[in-house]
Amino acid sequence: MNSSHLEKIRPEDIAVAFGLTDVRLGERPVVRRHLADLRGCFADEAAFEAALAADNPLLYEVCAVEPADGDGQLHYGLGVLYPGKVGDEYSLTKGHLHSHRPAAEVYIGLAGEGAMLLEDETTGTSRLVPLGKGQIVYVPGHTAHRTVNTGSAPLVYIGVYPANAGHDYASIAERNFRKVILERDGEPVLLDRPTR
Ligand SMILES: [Fe+2]
Repeated sequence: MNSSHLEKIRPEDIAVAFGLTDVRLGERPVVRRHLADLRGCFADEAAFEAALAADNPLLYEVCAVEPADGDGQLHYGLGVLYPGKVGDEYSLTKGHLHSHRPAAEVYIGLAGEGAMLLEDETTGTSRLVPLGKGQIVYVPGHTAHRTVNTGSAPLVYIGVYPANAGHDYASIAERNFRKVILERDGEPVLLDRPTR
C-alpha cells in the first residue's frame, strides 16, 4: 500500500467542508480499518501478506450518523477510503449486505475517484458502477456492496440508508464477493475472483 504521501481527510473535516457541522460529527465515533483488518478480502493473499509485513496502513474510516430509529427514519455514513493496491487489486472496503435485505441505499461521491461493486444476492450477478466526485449510485435491496478507490487521492462519499437497514458483514466475510476489481492497463476491470 502506498498512501503515505496523501493528505489525510477525516470525516470530521468533511463535515466542516460540506456545512454539516450542525450534526456535530466531530464528536461521533469513527470506525477505522487498517490493512490487517482486511485479511481475507483481497484476492492475492501473497501480495496481502507481503504488504502487511511492510506496513499496516489505514485503509478507510467510516463515521455513522444515526440520529433516530423508527419507521421512515434515515441514517447515513461518511466514508473516506484511501488509495492504494494490494497486488493489482484496488484499495477496498469489507463490503456488506443489509441485515434487513430489502433495504436500499444511495451513495453520493464527494471527492476522489472510485467505484462500487454491486452483487445481487438473489441472482449472483455483479456490476461495477462509478462512484467518484459528483457521481451517485443507487444500491438496490438484496445487494452486497463494496467500495473501491481506483484513483490516487482519498475517495470520499456519503451513504444514506433506512434506519432499519442494519449491517451484515458476516455473510461477505464468509464467502467474499464473486468478482474482483483489478487494474489492467491502468484501468479498473471487473473479473471473476481467481480460484485458489
Ligand atoms: Fe450499506
